[in-house]
Amino acid sequence: MKIKILKDYNELSYTVADIVQEQIERKPNSRIILPTGSTPIGVYKELVERKLDWSQVKTFNLDEYVMNSYPEHSYLNFMIENLFDHTNLLSKNCYFPDTWLHETPYGYDVDLCLLGIGGNGHIAFNEPGSSFDSLTRMVELSEETVKDNSRFFPSIDDVPTQAVTMGLKPIMSSKRIIIMANGKHKKDILDKAMNGEVTEDVPASILQRHENVEVFYCD
Ligand code: GLP
Repeated sequence: MKIKILKDYNELSYTVADIVQEQIERKPNSRIILPTGSTPIGVYKELVERKLDWSQVKTFNLDEYVMNSYPEHSYLNFMIENLFDHTNLLSKNCYFPDTWLHETPYGYDVDLCLLGIGGNGHIAFNEPGSSFDSLTRMVELSEETVKDNSRFFPSIDDVPTQAVTMGLKPIMSSKRIIIMANGKHKKDILDKAMNGEVTEDVPASILQRHENVEVFYCD
């Protein structure tokens, strides 16, 4: 995997936005997998400012909570607030895994996949131990993930403990994968995923088997 170290979060955001822009301009009906979390917020902000033509683009979000008593903190709502509402993306072209549980973008010919990485090496909500052959499915979130994500909820008891996630297999079927990590706290896990053993204990390590992955990091 190629790693590019950026000088700050701003540079990370516009570098990844450049890749998305170039993809959409080259192929207006691109299929793109999108993440949530704090890391991609700057990329979305940048993309909104660029006023691209998203009218033919199809987006596939990586994951969504289930049994969430705070719909305002759903990943769908996150996407609406950070991207969808500020572009000409058509809502029928924005797919969420809980609405296509039995129908993943595996085989959908995804052009570009943006990813973040969780503190325990998860990608989407594929927690340690997830099979490399996993498809889109419902999962239990690990204690660490619930704790990490509690910053978005009133209290830790309000964090959903289950989610629907795109599996590792559909993620790996994307033609090009970009992984973004922001902050020193992500450095060790990123290093383990990129250079350590390829193991289901570190789900992101599967990316070492993909031929077109770029890693963007800033601390
Ligand atoms: C959540 C999401 C992941 C995301 C991760 C990292 O668990 N399910 O898709 O990559 O958080 O989030 P952050 O960018 O906030 O560190």
